[in-house]
Amino acid sequence: MIKELIEKIKFDLNADRIGPDIPFTHWNLFFHKRMVKLCKRKFSSFSDTSGVRPGVYAVVCSKISIGRNVIIRPGSMLFGDLRSQGYSIIIEDNVLLGPCVQIYVNNHKFAKDTNGNIYHDDHTEPKSVILRKGCWIGANAIILPGVEIGEYAIVGAGSIVAKSVSQGMMVVGNPARFIKNV
Ligand SMILES: CC(C)(COP(=O)(O)OP(=O)(O)OC[C@H]1O[C@@H](n2cnc3c(N)ncnc32)[C@H](O)[C@@H]1OP(=O)(O)O)[C@@H](O)C(=O)NCCC(=O)NCCS
Repeated sequence: MIKELIEKIKFDLNADRIGPDIPFTHWNLFFHKRMVKLCKRKFSSFSDTSGVRPGVYAVVCSKISIGRNVIIRPGSMLFGDLRSQGYSIIIEDNVLLGPCVQIYVNNHKFAKDTNGNIYHDDHTEPKSVILRKGCWIGANAIILPGVEIGEYAIVGAGSIVAKSVSQGMMVVGNPARFIKNV
């Protein structure tokens, strides 16, 4: 048990990820200065004026860029991919992510499943997600690979966004559809 604990501590400290499943760094998110220090160490870029709340998961942080005055609320999940050219996920300045927002940049290669276990199959080539400055992503929204959310656009709570959203548009629903200009 002690050996396993030591290995887990080492893993957590070096992992290219943060989240409740990485408890030996996750606790830092409960304290502002420690949160900033951890996020600066893990993400490709991060600012003193941004906040990642406890309960956020981020995988392959080194491929995620977070701008200034960004807030990411609890339960949100950001999945980067080491194979991305440049960043997997770019979050520009003044972006707000509500609770439990999920961002994905790839899919499982479901058509090529040979061993009957999709978890062990390859992933498709990553397609980056970009959240342009000032956009607001409502609670529980899901942003799918390759989507760009334009400046000051709004994504309603619970929406599933499969296509890019232009600047200043409000979209809601599954699949997310335009309802009005902001
Ligand atoms: C998208 C949102 C901002 C729109 O607010 P609004 O401008 O006041 O829009 P309205 O309430 O007038 O709704 C306009 C229409 O869209 C529908 N609608 C609004 N939000 C919706 C949503 N999330 N999903 C599906 N439909 C939605 C309404 O039912 C209404 O339909 P109708 O015209 O057929 O009656 C708001 O509904 C929302 O989802 N907010 C996110 C809240 C949140 O996540 N907070 C977390 C804090 S960060």
